[in-house]
Amino acid sequence: MSMRLPFFKNKQTTDIINKVLDSPPEHVAIIMDGNGRWAKKRGLPRIAGHKEGINSVIKIVRSATKHNMEILTLFAFSTENWRRPTTEIDFLMKLPKEFLHIYLPELIEKNVRIDMIGDSGALPAHTKEAIQYAKEKTKDNDGLLLNFALNYGSRFEIMQAMKQVIHDIECSKLTVDTLDEAVFSEYLYTKGMSDPDLLIRTSGEQRLSNFLLWQLAYTEFWFTDVFWPDFDEKIFEQALLDYQQRKRRYGGI
Ligand code: FPP
Repeated sequence: MSMRLPFFKNKQTTDIINKVLDSPPEHVAIIMDGNGRWAKKRGLPRIAGHKEGINSVIKIVRSATKHNMEILTLFAFSTENWRRPTTEIDFLMKLPKEFLHIYLPELIEKNVRIDMIGDSGALPAHTKEAIQYAKEKTKDNDGLLLNFALNYGSRFEIMQAMKQVIHDIECSKLTVDTLDEAVFSEYLYTKGMSDPDLLIRTSGEQRLSNFLLWQLAYTEFWFTDVFWPDFDEKIFEQALLDYQQRKRRYGGI
């Protein structure tokens, strides 16, 4: 009996974990941080960290599909990242194409739909085309929505939305009285998407960096010191389990 008890306990624990992971957060957003430091620690150029980061992306996408998540939003390039050296920007801009070149068939097979949020206008043609191609190829899929935030900045997004709202009021498509939070949300890049339930940021930094400021109003935050290239399914599942223990009150009691 004393031999069997630990086994029984382990099985029970596994069952609980599986149960929890069967009802994951609907929408998870991730600030994938620490690629540069990961590379520096190994005496490698920063771009080696970004390249390695692709492996973590696919690991987390696989896990998200396995757990029937609805939306995974990944912060891949911010409006502030243009301040980086040109060589690093050029490299970062090639990553979506490289990722999709390798993994698009698997994403299609896994019923993943690809989309992007951000100002696509300023992206190089090859980046835009790669995303557009993947969007087109996956537009009828109804599994996980894999949402890349590329040239994304939340303040810019909100300003653009405000300008469009003013325009629509001026041309009588909208009235001030009918404008409310739900209507305003429809002017954001995330139109039609639920707000993230969980935000993860890797690498020990604990800030939002102009990411989804409107959408994260009631989101649960989860931080880890792990650099993005070391982030894997196990750590992701730990975040999901921790999320399940949170009591979301939305301002109530
Ligand atoms: C932040 O780390 C990371 C980025 C600015 C880029 C994130 C991109 C990827 C992980 C790859 C994206 C993959 C696809 C498929 C688009 P950092 O460079 O700021 O790291 P540091 O804070 O250690 O310097």
